[in-house]
Amino acid sequence: MYISNHFTLVRKISNGILICLAAILLGCGGGGGQEAAKPILIKFPHVTAPATPKGEAAERFKQVVEERLAGRVAVEVYPSAQLMSDDDSLDALAFGEVQMIAISLSKLDRLTHKFQIFDLPFLFPDLPAVERFQASDYGQGLLRSMVDSKLLGLSFWHNGMKQFSGPAPMRTPESAKGLKFRIMESDVLQAQILQIGGNPQKMAFAEVYQALQTGAVDAQENTWSNIYSSKFYEVQPYITETNHGYLGYLVAVNPDFWASLPDDIRSELALIVQEVTIWANEQSTIIDLAGKEKIIESGQSEVIELTADERAAWQRAMRPVWDTFSESIGADLIAAAQAYDK
Ligand code: SIN
Repeated sequence: MYISNHFTLVRKISNGILICLAAILLGCGGGGGQEAAKPILIKFPHVTAPATPKGEAAERFKQVVEERLAGRVAVEVYPSAQLMSDDDSLDALAFGEVQMIAISLSKLDRLTHKFQIFDLPFLFPDLPAVERFQASDYGQGLLRSMVDSKLLGLSFWHNGMKQFSGPAPMRTPESAKGLKFRIMESDVLQAQILQIGGNPQKMAFAEVYQALQTGAVDAQENTWSNIYSSKFYEVQPYITETNHGYLGYLVAVNPDFWASLPDDIRSELALIVQEVTIWANEQSTIIDLAGKEKIIESGQSEVIELTADERAAWQRAMRPVWDTFSESIGADLIAAAQAYDK
């Protein structure tokens, strides 16, 4: 009797130990065990379609992170403004609701005027010139210029150079007169449109197609890849290839989130961002020009190529914008930026 009770007790104790051990190993110890570590989540909203320079770069970032930091970091990319607008993403990043954004430099005007230089018309002749300027001490200093607004830049990604689209052929700056132009949220872009006699309307990217379709605005400026992927060409019968301005992004994180990461994860993520930046900035022109080709093939929009003299006329017409902003941007900085054209 005693012996059988003793064995029963021993069996119960060892069963209990086994159950506890299993609970600890499975990480579901009912309060006594340890939680299995969940991967750190990076929510990454953006506003362009997946098949754009930014859309492809964001997906590649996700893919590389989830390969190299498998089980430790997960990335959720939300393209096409399906989660929020760019404007809202600045607040969401500051409040820690999302962890990463890639926002057009023009839209940072709300936080600082330091990025206005990128919007000056005809300042940078091409993407390599922009890239050299971004790699300069000033360009790299910009990455940390909004930490007080809870935004830490990690890198710059290109989209491309902007073109004008509209309801009628725009060969000369005079042909823009009286047209309502949708622009990004930037005072330099506003001045640029006023300079050619247009009526600028700041508007979120997700609203542009409908605004063009309904005639709420007549015209807009954007890159080939955005005009193609957001179908603006379907409702804009003419596109003038001006290459008059730069559209690029600041890839940014919340600085508190970044500082909270374990050192090894933070340095691996920083490395991945740099690798993806090189890849993305090589791809951007290919994707952009593919957009142009597809627009031409569609036959829905006529592409107007300017002669050198015609392009010079646009350049002259917009040049006073530089003077308007030379005090706030800094005449020295503008001169320095010009030197990166070679
Ligand atoms: C983007 O490329 O992120 C959007 C640009 C725009 O708002 O026009």
